[in-house]
Amino acid sequence: MSKTRITRFFLCVVAVLSLTLNSTTGYTEDSVVNVYSARKEALILPLLERFKAETGIDFQLVTGKADGLLKRLEIEGEATPADVFITTDVGRLQRAKSANILQALDSEILQSRVPANLRDNDNQWYGMSRRARVIFYSKDRVDPSKLSTYEGLADEQWRNRLCIRSSSNIYNQSLVASLIEHIGVEKTEAWAKGVVTNFSRKPGGGDTNQLEAVAAGQCDITVVNTYYYGRLLNSGDPEKVAVAEKIGIFWPNQDDRGAHVNVSGAGVTKHAKHPGAAKKLLEFLVTPESQNWYAEVNNEYPVVEDAVTSDTLRAFGEFKADEIDLSILGEKNRDALQLMDRAGWQ
Ligand SMILES: [Fe+2]
Repeated sequence: MSKTRITRFFLCVVAVLSLTLNSTTGYTEDSVVNVYSARKEALILPLLERFKAETGIDFQLVTGKADGLLKRLEIEGEATPADVFITTDVGRLQRAKSANILQALDSEILQSRVPANLRDNDNQWYGMSRRARVIFYSKDRVDPSKLSTYEGLADEQWRNRLCIRSSSNIYNQSLVASLIEHIGVEKTEAWAKGVVTNFSRKPGGGDTNQLEAVAAGQCDITVVNTYYYGRLLNSGDPEKVAVAEKIGIFWPNQDDRGAHVNVSGAGVTKHAKHPGAAKKLLEFLVTPESQNWYAEVNNEYPVVEDAVTSDTLRAFGEFKADEIDLSILGEKNRDALQLMDRAGWQ
């Protein structure tokens, strides 16, 4: 067989196979949506079930670690079954865009409901929930009037009193990227060195571990995402509640740019086989009901204006959020990581 004949033969085989697959699964083009989610099953499955009940569109869900799923999408290429990729942090959403595994999605609903700074300029990803990364302090050992800004974390008064996650954590990378954008590389590097000097212990562990360390007296202040604090408060476990009750929340930079906010987000994959259903799913995720659900279940802030937040979020108080274009944080991710490395932030 000549090369073109072989190619034609294989194309026929692929066509027949895909017809067979479609008929065995019973799916026509838009009656199913396949989702790869770096969010835990408990944080997406109930919404998918509600989506199915409302639209009749079935779903397949694969959950996994963010970087692993991204790698899988890259390796699968055109053969990927995934229509939608859900992940946390703009650093990772931007990585997905750079890896060329997403496609632009034009949706009037998404463009009108998701603020411009919380979505990609080329419509390849959209923020689905907001998470604030702010300062938490020991109520026993810290006078909150001594707290002010992220910049202030480098002050000498916090020597050996600060604990925080390592520089491999993307939440911290995005926070540092925001500082680079706001105050420039030089000042951010000097700041990072000050922060490192203030560490009470080698960086490590997750956000919850930092809160536990404050409660246990291993450090006096930390920086974590607010939903981890909400999770402890609402855990129903007296020990965890006791940890949270020893700690206060402080909203930094309220007199200037506002507190650092990041997103979890989603995009339609470049090789989606069900782009219509994928679009419907993303639009469903920004309805007031879905947005309220994120607030109630995971204490995350809505991206839309008309969603009601949870009692827990209301108790955290109103705050001014940094409205920086989040794409910038993704673009500066490498700079942030290199800067943290130079500053000795392990
Ligand atoms: Fe998290």
